[in-house]
Amino acid sequence: APSGLQYKVADLGLAEYGRNEIRLAEHEMPGLVSLRKEFGDAQPLAGARITGSLHMTVQTAVLIETLVALGAQVRWVSCNIFSTQDHAAAAVVVGPDGTVEDPKGVSVFAWKGESLPEYWWCSDQVLRWEGHDGPNMILDDGGDVTLLVHNGVKFEKSGVVPETTEQDSEEEGVVLEALRASLRAEPDRFTKMAVDIKGVSEETTTGVHRLYELAKTGELLFPAINVNDAVTKSKFDNKYGCRHSLIDGINRATDVLIGGKVAVICGYGDVGKGSAESLRGQGARVIITEIDPICALQAAMDGYQVATLDDVIDQADIFVTTTGNKDIIMAADMAKMKHQAIVGNIGHFDNEIDMAGLARVSGIKKVDIKPQVAEWVFPDGHSILVLSEGRLLNLGNATGHPSFVMSNSFTNQTMAQIELFTKPGEYDKQVYVLPKLLDEKVARLHLDALGAKLTELRKDQAEYIGVDVAGPYKPDHYRY
Ligand code: NAI
Repeated sequence: APSGLQYKVADLGLAEYGRNEIRLAEHEMPGLVSLRKEFGDAQPLAGARITGSLHMTVQTAVLIETLVALGAQVRWVSCNIFSTQDHAAAAVVVGPDGTVEDPKGVSVFAWKGESLPEYWWCSDQVLRWEGHDGPNMILDDGGDVTLLVHNGVKFEKSGVVPETTEQDSEEEGVVLEALRASLRAEPDRFTKMAVDIKGVSEETTTGVHRLYELAKTGELLFPAINVNDAVTKSKFDNKYGCRHSLIDGINRATDVLIGGKVAVICGYGDVGKGSAESLRGQGARVIITEIDPICALQAAMDGYQVATLDDVIDQADIFVTTTGNKDIIMAADMAKMKHQAIVGNIGHFDNEIDMAGLARVSGIKKVDIKPQVAEWVFPDGHSILVLSEGRLLNLGNATGHPSFVMSNSFTNQTMAQIELFTKPGEYDKQVYVLPKLLDEKVARLHLDALGAKLTELRKDQAEYIGVDVAGPYKPDHYRY
């Protein structure tokens, strides 16, 4: 580009379509738009070099442009090979003031349908900042970029990258190979990079797990804010977002009638709750599997049958994993399913469904029906439909969560970035959640748009229940 902007996206020609959708999304994202108004003059993110790794959708475009409006420089990659919306990526590169011939927006490296080596190449590109050792902030979803930096530092310290083993997935092999090349070419690249990084804000349950692991072993290299466990994130995005986008993915992939079918949801956490409701809303009979007695009891009290996968494997028409855990549906399970059963995952990583095992079944055949929909035909002639190769189907087969719910999540993300960037001294190399007052603020910012009118707490009432009139209204241990 004449401006020298670096990027790699599918087609800049899609920018106008993307810009129109971004404009419509802004109206549905009151939290982000109000942060632009509140902080636009103060520019709290001036000087921030944010490397972002999060599904490159229309909603994420509004987040990126909010960070820019608050003063940040940004480089962006999608955190999944199938989740990019190419028109959104194009519009962000072109920017509100640029043209296809002279893009003036943000450096994005993302397109729908990347290969694994391409995905990790993109993740590497967003960590490269001309004139600097790297970013000084990370905004992550699932922790891939955060972990890349941590592993890079670890291997540079020991001077070796371990050999790829039989147990490693194809993806782990790709990452190790990339890190081997990096260690040869730039032996202290990640070590130098980590020094500059003031912190990371993490979007999702799975990424947050990874951060707490690093903090527990003392390996966390910089402070982290767990955005996922803001109430206005996980109790909204994970739940109501999936309620919307799960059936969206299944419908766009298969267009099979959901009403009357039997659906199994593995896991009844926040994502499972929204997913179960999504299918029940269409008239499916939903069965839940759980390992946690509390969540199992919740499912039962919500009116769902709770069973083991084994007991219902040959009865259900639709299977969806939501656990964030590995090896939930194995190849041997899929072999027992009904003809044309639909199998998908909405958890963060693809290891919930044993795709490698499925490919190894002797005599199995894969028929690609269309992008992100594959029919796997077993030797006995019966087949199953696997969505998005076992990767999160709401983003692979559809467009992920809608704007309004993502406005809640991304308002938290933006505030977390401001916290970590402007108050570096206040945070240790630990994992933090945002203060409850900010959580309540995020919710407040979204009430008007829905015509919801809040009752004002009176002073005597506030004293009676022991809270401040201005909040926070609940103790930290309250569960909502
Ligand atoms: P959560 O921890 O609230 O729920 C997961 C549930 O799965 C837990 O209740 C757990 O007991 C259960 N579980 C674990 N192992 C199991 C097994 N073997 N069988 C049955 N149940 C099992 O986590 P949350 O927030 O619901 O997130 C789940 C996953 O979804 C994570 O990977 C998260 O990153 C991802 N996520 C995906 C989104 C999307 O748009 N696709 C949005 C938000 C989160």
